[in-house]
Amino acid sequence: MSDDKKHGSGNVSPGDTSQRVGMEAVRRRGGEPEEIKETLIDAIGAEFTTYYYYTNLRCWLAGEEDYKEITEDARLEDRAHFELVMPRVYELGGQLPNDIRAFADRASCPDAELPEDPTPENILETLLEAERCAIRTWAEVCDMTRDCDPRTYDLASRIYNEEVDHEAWFIELLSRERDDEANPAGHFVRGEPGDAPYSKNHDFNESA
Ligand SMILES: [Fe+2]
Ligand SMILES: [Fe+2]
Repeated sequence: MSDDKKHGSGNVSPGDTSQRVGMEAVRRRGGEPEEIKETLIDAIGAEFTTYYYYTNLRCWLAGEEDYKEITEDARLEDRAHFELVMPRVYELGGQLPNDIRAFADRASCPDAELPEDPTPENILETLLEAERCAIRTWAEVCDMTRDCDPRTYDLASRIYNEEVDHEAWFIELLSRERDDEANPAGHFVRGEPGDAPYSKNHDFNESA
């Protein structure tokens, strides 16, 4: 008898679209969907604005083809991070701010503006600090969700993996550019620009 099934019913009435079991399940395990959702909007605000600012930073690395290529990967992966997490905001009962200015203002990281003196060294330092802010942001989301929200935790930890890559890339480039030092990231190239090996779903679903 289907009525006897352990998970066949719960606190949300059958057919009730005003509530989400996906949020209830987070609460039941001690999480705060509201708080997670607000933190995610701040975090993807930073991904979205960083995508924009990196476009300009990449352009100003004119003539530095290797720096441009790495910046392009980081730029496109930030867009992938925005895309990956955006639906989760809605699943948690939220929505994107209607005003893009409000969205940019609440971003969890500073604007990665073009430095006043846009030398490769200064641009690489701006890029490095933006990546560090992203690591701190997604580490916070991982900590908030590890025990209560496996879906958000999975998304955040995939992004975290790429942000740690990005930091290592810019440490390598800045060390060479500014200090004439080898400080390897151990990385060669992504397969395609903005490959996003952890945060694009197609990479998980494609067969080899
Ligand atoms: Fe990112
Ligand atoms: Fe990044």
